[in-house]
Amino acid sequence: MKYIFGNWKMYLGYSESVDLAKDLALQNFDTQKVSLAVFPAAIASKTVADELQNSNFAVGAQDVMWLPSGAYTGAVSAQMFKDIGCRYALVGHSERRHIFEEHSDTVRKKLEASREAGLIPVLCVGETKEDTEQDKRQYRLKKQLMSAFEGLRLNSGSMLIAYEPVWAIGTGDACLPQDAEDIIGWIKQEIVHYSLGNVPVLYGGSVTAQNVLSYTSISDIDGVLVGGVSTKKDEFTSLIRSVNNLYV
Ligand code: PGA
Repeated sequence: MKYIFGNWKMYLGYSESVDLAKDLALQNFDTQKVSLAVFPAAIASKTVADELQNSNFAVGAQDVMWLPSGAYTGAVSAQMFKDIGCRYALVGHSERRHIFEEHSDTVRKKLEASREAGLIPVLCVGETKEDTEQDKRQYRLKKQLMSAFEGLRLNSGSMLIAYEPVWAIGTGDACLPQDAEDIIGWIKQEIVHYSLGNVPVLYGGSVTAQNVLSYTSISDIDGVLVGGVSTKKDEFTSLIRSVNNLYV
């Protein structure tokens, strides 16, 4: 089984999100082969969750506030997303880390809050181009993993990781499948220290209907996190269908 998650970012407004959810609700995939979720903008998440309630797709939050309620202007808590039917939460996406200057302690709080609220966090990690140029890829990933997991108690199966090199996100410059395989294998070794049980690791960064099988055909890569392409109904459904048709 492979995970295919679609992060709609801030690409789609309310009506566009609802229209896409309605289209996806009509699709039929084999959930033994693909585990599917979409992450709409917060403003659309309730309606999208309602539209997809009896479909093959779960819904997730793109970002969560770690405190459950209170005087936090502009924020939406993990608990609030859980209450409207979300199953997952992206935590520490590179756009949150880099554009919103989210630090590792914030990422950690969001990870814990998601778990407490009963959401399954998808921790996003990835190195920048400069990290790679300075031969600091593993150093960066190690730091991100350590600050997220040191001392954390989790039950097996209760979280995922997405390896998303920053330079590959939205650029068309996808990571070579062999490289993604090596790094994801290394991440799986690294997290053994934290006794987290089984944590699926996805690849993300310029995944398309054309290149998806080059990732999902690798056994260590448990699925993909798709950005831009997941907002386009035909491309996204053909991406899912090609994985759906291949794997048991
Ligand atoms: P992309 O985004 O597929 O548009 O590169 C991936 C992501 O940010 O999750």
